[in-house]
Amino acid sequence: MATTVSDLKTRADEAVREIAAAADDAALEVARVRYLSRKDGLITAATKELATLAAADRPAYGQAVNEAKRRIEAALEGRQAALRSATIDRSLGESVDLTLPPRRVRLARMHPISRTIREITRVLATLGFEAVEGPEVEWDYYNFEALNIPRDHPARDKFNTLWIQSPLGDDPDRPMLLRTHTSPMQIRVMEQRQPPVRVVVPGRCYRFEATDATHESLFHQYEGLAIDEQLTMADLKGVLYSFARQLFGGERKVKFRPDYFPFTEPSAEIAFDCFVCDGAGVTNTGRCATCGGSGWIEAAGCGMVHPDALRRVGYDTSRYQGFAFGGGVERLAMLLTGTPDIRLFHENDMRYLESV
Ligand code: DAH
Repeated sequence: MATTVSDLKTRADEAVREIAAAADDAALEVARVRYLSRKDGLITAATKELATLAAADRPAYGQAVNEAKRRIEAALEGRQAALRSATIDRSLGESVDLTLPPRRVRLARMHPISRTIREITRVLATLGFEAVEGPEVEWDYYNFEALNIPRDHPARDKFNTLWIQSPLGDDPDRPMLLRTHTSPMQIRVMEQRQPPVRVVVPGRCYRFEATDATHESLFHQYEGLAIDEQLTMADLKGVLYSFARQLFGGERKVKFRPDYFPFTEPSAEIAFDCFVCDGAGVTNTGRCATCGGSGWIEAAGCGMVHPDALRRVGYDTSRYQGFAFGGGVERLAMLLTGTPDIRLFHENDMRYLESV
């Protein structure tokens, strides 16, 4: 007989000692495998040996195996419980300083540009304008051609365009770009809808520009478009008048100054009287910083939609006409939040963004 009853007892004594000394759960697991593993643990090996014994020896040996197994299992269970309660005791012993101030809760808030876009679309919704969005990667056709800015037109010079190269190869007749303004959506909307049309299009635009306090190569615009049977410049002025009052409050005045855009005729630039100095150009501390002392804040380009653009989308120009306006979201956000530098909006400095 390879293993006697007393050998078995000795091995079980060793096992119980080893288990009692196990320092942690990992050591305990090593011991459990060594003694109780079904594959090649001590008990399994001893059980296999049973078959090799003479019939007379089997009962005593079998009993010894059962006894060894019972002791090892009890030792494992006992050590496991001891380790667990030691862990609990240790963590109870740690002192918690209840006088520490709690960690600051950071509430999410909307980015000032998103807030301004919401405000613009909310105000224009009260005047019946539906907010729609369009693609930022755009065809030359919508960004320029359809807006009366053909390939050699000098108006292209003011839009420092970022062109897109397709990895599949470019069609020289259909150049692609990052839209330089939201005006291409005028054409897209008119292509898809019949008058009456009243939409506002907020969105990202791109220009290849040197960055300074009032320019960034990524910025946002809002575009308004209204087409109907009897619209005039007076309606345009009325809409922008209400827009200015709702956005800036008080008794805002608006004024048109003649301007030129290829896709509107006539074209104008709209200015609001300054909501800080009420148009005076000065405050008690001197020249008004918000309007630069002029008393006026230039806000957007606008005009009556050019008949060529209407014809291009198949509208009957003897029946329909309309107006459009478009301006910079960052500019309004700077005015509304008193932000002196456009770059503060996109630098992601939470100290600034949380303060406005
Ligand atoms: N898209 C023009 C720009 O970025 C601004 C503009 C001018 C928009 C006149 C209009 C408009 O809708 O009628 O400079």
